[in-house]
Amino acid sequence: MTLIFAHRGYSAKYPENTMRAFREAEKSGADGIELDVQFTKDDEIVVIHDDKVDRTTNGSGLVKDYTFEDLRRLDASYKFKTILKKEPIPSLKEVLEWLQTNQLKCNIEIKSNIESYMKIEAPLIALIREYNLSERVIISSFNHYSIVYCYRLAPEIEIAPLYQEGLFMPWVYTQSIKAKGMHPNFRVAPNEIIKAAIEAGIEVRPYTVNKEQDMRRLFEIGCTAFITDDPVKAIKIRKEFR
Ligand code: G3P
Ligand code: CA
Repeated sequence: MTLIFAHRGYSAKYPENTMRAFREAEKSGADGIELDVQFTKDDEIVVIHDDKVDRTTNGSGLVKDYTFEDLRRLDASYKFKTILKKEPIPSLKEVLEWLQTNQLKCNIEIKSNIESYMKIEAPLIALIREYNLSERVIISSFNHYSIVYCYRLAPEIEIAPLYQEGLFMPWVYTQSIKAKGMHPNFRVAPNEIIKAAIEAGIEVRPYTVNKEQDMRRLFEIGCTAFITDDPVKAIKIRKEFR
């Protein structure tokens, strides 16, 4: 069965990378969530996509210049006029705590900016271990040095390279860095590549798959999983394939 990961939570309907979006993803029946992490000024790991808070909150400036306390005052749901409740930027701890209440898988994407370069990996792993989530977490990044470093620190935690180019035999590269899975942009993941990778024992989870026809293609070929903003749509379509 092709698993469904909710990209930044159920972000098609709810404010991305918030507890609300993660809870709604769980309610939708998704198998997992995807989220992005980075460091605050005082080294708290927080869940937010951009280097800056401007696009997703009512604040402005770089995440790395905020203390966690100050960052928590921002509202990550301010653009959603129908959502009246303020949604703060979650700490990773908060998400890992909540994951104790369910069986969801969690794909943590390391957003390695210059400041956090090679700094975030060890504390991230310490947290995953503290919450006993090594079996349910997949660490991914476009920065492959970062995930290889994670693997060296914690070979028990799965890593997966993110990429968006039409690589030649990407499963061979994936195996070479000891990753068990690869996360291509769905546009560079034709059926032949996905099938060959799975044949070679590599799990394939393309991102960000939002159109019905693209979802259908991946269900049809039995892709391992995919990452989508709209888990409700994906689950509805998956039912036809079971
Ligand atoms: O993990 C897949 C996807 O989230 C990577 O791109 O920019 O949405 O973080 P982005
Ligand atoms: Ca991401």
